[in-house]
Amino acid sequence: MENFVYEYPTKVYFGKGAAQQHLPGILASYGPNVLLAYGGGSIKRNGVYEELTGILKAAGKTVTEFTGIMSNPTYAKVQEGAKLARENKIDLVLAVGGGSVVDCCKIVCAQAVTDEDLWDLEMVQHQAPTGTPIPLGAVVTASGTGAEMNGGAVITNEDAKIKGGMFAAAPRFAVLDPAYTLSLPRMQVLSGAFDTLSHAMETYFGRSDRDNVSDEVALAVMRSTVTNMRTLLKDINDYTARSNLMWTSAMAENGILKVGRVTDFECHQMEHQLGAYTDCNHGQGLAVLHPAYYRHIVKDAPEKFARFARSVWGVTDDDDAQAAQKGILELEAFILECGLPTKLSQLKSRAEITPELLRQVADSVNLLPNGPRQLTHDEVYQIFLECL
Ligand code: NZQ
Ligand code: ZN
Repeated sequence: MENFVYEYPTKVYFGKGAAQQHLPGILASYGPNVLLAYGGGSIKRNGVYEELTGILKAAGKTVTEFTGIMSNPTYAKVQEGAKLARENKIDLVLAVGGGSVVDCCKIVCAQAVTDEDLWDLEMVQHQAPTGTPIPLGAVVTASGTGAEMNGGAVITNEDAKIKGGMFAAAPRFAVLDPAYTLSLPRMQVLSGAFDTLSHAMETYFGRSDRDNVSDEVALAVMRSTVTNMRTLLKDINDYTARSNLMWTSAMAENGILKVGRVTDFECHQMEHQLGAYTDCNHGQGLAVLHPAYYRHIVKDAPEKFARFARSVWGVTDDDDAQAAQKGILELEAFILECGLPTKLSQLKSRAEITPELLRQVADSVNLLPNGPRQLTHDEVYQIFLECL
């Protein structure tokens, strides 16, 4: 294993009724002013808003609302939230939603305590913010990203046309009630779960020694994600499957799988830039790109791909090269089985996805060094074209 330091900052309250049971006690240890942050209004339709505002009121909190956080949250939206937090002397930000709301709030918490432009500081000067951010808590209503258990935030800078990872403090606590996810549209449930599968794959396919214990955990998370997604294909409201997926989502991004190893995440780099230009759904973008990406790198890590094929997909071929290829075919078939998109043209996009657009997207993709092989921008473009 590589050397590592591991510490866990987020306290998780998991299960049906977790907010009613635990939030009153949690809120008692924070000041009176709470920023209640959420997205486009799903929480008002499924009763979560009513439940949480009731808890906040009973706790005597003064609530300021920060609403309309969009999927693929923008840096401009971060500034809006930071201004609200400053003006209302916020003591705690409560992010209620999926990865987009949680990510936006992570940077709101850091931006509210400084006049510095955090995008410039982190993305241009490559420095970490120094101020102590406002405490953040997350109530998750859409699982998949695992954003509630890490300090990374994926933010779109619309002017720069970059969707990039910024670093901030992880939430101090996260409330994970699988029942809160039951109102999610079917496609979001499955694309969120595919995102989890992608996180475990991206971690596993990073270069590292063969016998890393983290790889065993990653393979187990992949198997469990696939099994539970298949259960949902039969009954999308299966609570046990929803709860397993809520926890594999957190497991895949809470650092456990990454202990003692380097990770790949090149497919995420491609999808993020695709998102910067098209505003496409994250999990769906990954579903389109993953098989094509893996066909490009399979020859650079045949043993690793073979182990993935045997362990996750039950491929029985003895020959590594053959098993590796079959694993990718199984992954592709699974994406189809889930009804997830397999072509870029199937993605909901705000811009027409043409070869010319894809050239611009490809040239802006961050090329990471820790996958089986470092891609070039031309190869990223080739992968995009194969997905058209
Ligand atoms: O905005 P509302 O009305 O709430 O609707 C949302 C949104 O339209 C809806 N939704 C959420 N909970 C619901 C619900 N609808 C009905 N019932 C509920 N209970 O779901 C839609 C999608 O929400 P969003 O938060 O955008 O989805 P997701 O959780 O997939 O987050 C995607 C974002 O997270 C980033 C992605 O890039 C993307 O920007 N990621 C963050 C990561 C991290 N911080 O660790 C890692 C990931 O790789 C990912 O990049
Ligand atoms: Zn992801």
